[in-house]
Amino acid sequence: MLIGILGGTGKEGAGLALRWAEAGHEVIIGSRDADRARVKAEALGAEAKVKLSGASNRDAATRAEIVVLTLPASGLAATLGDLKDACRDKVVISTVVPLTFGGGRLFTPPPQGSSAEEVQELLGAEARVVAAFHHIAAHELASADHAIDCDLLHCGGDAEAKKLVAELGRSMGLRAVDTGPLTNAGPLESITAVLATINRRYKLKGSGIKITGLPGG
Ligand SMILES: NC(=O)c1ccc[n+]([C@@H]2O[C@H](COP(=O)([O-])OP(=O)(O)OC[C@H]3O[C@@H](n4cnc5c(N)ncnc54)[C@H](OP(=O)(O)O)[C@@H]3O)[C@@H](O)[C@H]2O)c1
Repeated sequence: MLIGILGGTGKEGAGLALRWAEAGHEVIIGSRDADRARVKAEALGAEAKVKLSGASNRDAATRAEIVVLTLPASGLAATLGDLKDACRDKVVISTVVPLTFGGGRLFTPPPQGSSAEEVQELLGAEARVVAAFHHIAAHELASADHAIDCDLLHCGGDAEAKKLVAELGRSMGLRAVDTGPLTNAGPLESITAVLATINRRYKLKGSGIKITGLPGG
């Protein structure tokens, strides 16, 4: 698959880019600054001995078959405002968690209920939005020497899109767990606030979550 990662110069996007490139997918790292994306793609690719390319967020979204959002919640409106056409009929994966550091409340969802639902509103009904990868820490994605000990909880309204996301997760060794419609994105995103608090409390870099009781263990 050809995957475009908007905000892919950051920690989460770079980690996903590496894992997917290693699994044989073609990945474009996107950025507000195309040159920054190209420099990042070259450096990451050379380090991990995989082929990555870089482009502006707009070009990455336009060229990609699957669009992945790895940018802060505060940047969604400005980034997606004019990408409705580029994302039409495409699977759009939102990894975005609306966190606010340094205030009284860590989890600060938008009025839509979740960042993924904000994404759906910004891109319109024709974008096939799936919320996923919120619990897969950038630190774990970057540590290719061990398997990631976390389930891929995901939700969305398009069954085929969710199957594709599950395949993308399996391609990096994750067990995918379908958690229902996009209205469950808020609860999923909020778990990351809990994991971030656990990381701080226990001095960890990448706590995760696993569901018990599923068929197959
Ligand atoms: N880090 C994790 O472990 C983790 C885990 C799960 C989910 N997530 C989610 O993944 C997303 C990215 O996390 P991250 O840690 O990679 O964040 P980050 O490094 O702070 O940001 C990622 C990229 O977003 C772009 N960006 C920054 N501010 C922006 C703005 N106002 N508008 C548009 N683009 C902006 C930047 O790229 P350019 O300057 O090149 O455009 C930056 O490199 C967040 O929503 C986070 O909640 C992170």
